[in-house]
Amino acid sequence: MKIDILTLFPSMFDGFLSCSIIKRAIDKKLVEINIINFRDYSKDPHHKVDDTPYGGGNGMVLMVQPIYDAVMSLKTDDSKVILLTPDGEKYNQKKAYDFSKLNHLIVICGHYEGFDERIRSIVDFSISIGDYVLTGGEIPSMIITDSIVRLIPGVIEEGSHLNDSFNPNTNLLDYPNYTKPREFNGMKVPEVLLNGNHKEIEEYRKKESLNKTMQNRPDLLEK
Ligand code: ADE
Repeated sequence: MKIDILTLFPSMFDGFLSCSIIKRAIDKKLVEINIINFRDYSKDPHHKVDDTPYGGGNGMVLMVQPIYDAVMSLKTDDSKVILLTPDGEKYNQKKAYDFSKLNHLIVICGHYEGFDERIRSIVDFSISIGDYVLTGGEIPSMIITDSIVRLIPGVIEEGSHLNDSFNPNTNLLDYPNYTKPREFNGMKVPEVLLNGNHKEIEEYRKKESLNKTMQNRPDLLEK
């Protein structure tokens, strides 16, 4: 899979791409992630990428030309274009699964007050990571990339995301986990996890998943 991320702030991605599971996935060639500065595509003599809004108002608006040309230079018949914007459809694990099956994603990070609405003419999905406004799409792009890459076969241990919270098959939160020591500050690991009875352990985990979902996210059960 290839993910091309269009941004005005490439250095924000340095840490993200050089650590942990994402780095390993890149090194194992399970994913190719390219960070592209769309300022390089500006036809303005000063490489300008934004301007004041028609009709007046605060802040600067990203111009359509640099982003349009950047996307067109990368796009093939196999590409899907994602625009990160607080007014998009809300992101979730189901979308992460769907996106992880695609071959090529082009991800546009907005910034400043917003972007020229005509950018939407080349976009397949407008995505918001939640009901709050960030300074730009860079962090949202890392969030969706991270959630997609870990679902690519071979990136994390086979089957380990089947127990994730929001797994589309169950739509429940994950069960609680424990590791050594057996007791810490008087808090004990539940006995059932120590007895080696897999059927009992599975039942315990299912019950705990359900309890936690009822308590923290009853909306998931309604679905
Ligand atoms: N850009 C700014 N805020 C955002 C959000 N909540 N989701 C996606 N992109 C954004």
